[in-house]
Amino acid sequence: MTSKSMIKDLEKIKNAALKAIEKVGDADALQDLRVVYLGRKGELTKLLKGLKDLDGGARQEMGQVANQVKQELEAALVARESALEKARFDAIAQEEWIDVTAPGVSQQEGSLHLVTQTINRIVDIFSTIGFSRVSAPEVDWDYYAFEALNMPKEHPARDDWETFFIDEHVSKRYGKQVLTPHTSNAQVRLLEEHDVPLKIINIARVYRRQADASHVPMFHQVEGFCVGDSITIADLKGTVEHFLYGFFGKDRKIRYRPYNFRFTEPSFEIDIDCDVCAGTGENCRVCKGGWVELAGAGLTHPHVLKAGGVDPKKYGAFAFGFGVERIAMMGGGVSIPDMRMMYQNDVRFLKQF
Ligand code: PHE
Repeated sequence: MTSKSMIKDLEKIKNAALKAIEKVGDADALQDLRVVYLGRKGELTKLLKGLKDLDGGARQEMGQVANQVKQELEAALVARESALEKARFDAIAQEEWIDVTAPGVSQQEGSLHLVTQTINRIVDIFSTIGFSRVSAPEVDWDYYAFEALNMPKEHPARDDWETFFIDEHVSKRYGKQVLTPHTSNAQVRLLEEHDVPLKIINIARVYRRQADASHVPMFHQVEGFCVGDSITIADLKGTVEHFLYGFFGKDRKIRYRPYNFRFTEPSFEIDIDCDVCAGTGENCRVCKGGWVELAGAGLTHPHVLKAGGVDPKKYGAFAFGFGVERIAMMGGGVSIPDMRMMYQNDVRFLKQF
């Protein structure tokens, strides 16, 4: 081989290599090219093996040329390698780009149902004067809902409660099961289960066959029950007013109306001035003449204490039962003209509270 033809071959190899390096698209392929051209069995090495056939001067000259080519290819490989690496990082940056200063996507925020909020406030206020909360059953025996409360079977007073009876289980001792029409079923149960004196509120769902602007068939009551050795109406009124003024503010009007419950004697109903019509009563579907009935209350009848195993000569008691939905509706500034709206689950209504 002459040095001339060798130079030509070197040129050829160099040009082919540079072209291939320029075209290559990823780091692995580039590595392959390095092996093809500069590796131990590569094109350049093969050619350089022919150097030994040249004479001294030519060999030295060719050696220099070949070295130069080698360096050029080496430089081209390194340059291409860093170009490919940069392109790879640019693509990642493009794909995974985030703007850390962009505003976040906020979660949709829910809120507790108005009735739940009302119950929480009721519990808070009663707890400040020592009432603890219990939950009596919402499906209970006729005995606890009526009979033990001094309302014997067939007594017409039972009709006031529009009760849903369940026919399935009938007990010889306790009678039928009922969807509790009021929370007063807690009273005798509490006397059976706890020592006296006691101060308890029972908050539960109750069920009656009624539906209009101020009634729903499933609603909630708060039963207050306080047993002690010298309970008077002053205790009852003090407790009720602590709650009502605490909940509604001191400028709301309340009144007591005499009533008749079989399980309290004497008995009252407690009214508040209507928040829907501002107490005017004009064209109001919710109240009667500007007043809304919120609760029944009274001093516990001795027969009820006896049914719970408590001696009425030693202990007295008072009880009250407030409607929670009515309390919620009468809260200042709420202005709910129809109780049924509370259970239609319309988010436009619910999210206002
Ligand atoms: N249970 C009665 C009702 O639902 C209210 C009440 C409770 C009355 C406690 C007196 C004592 O109407």
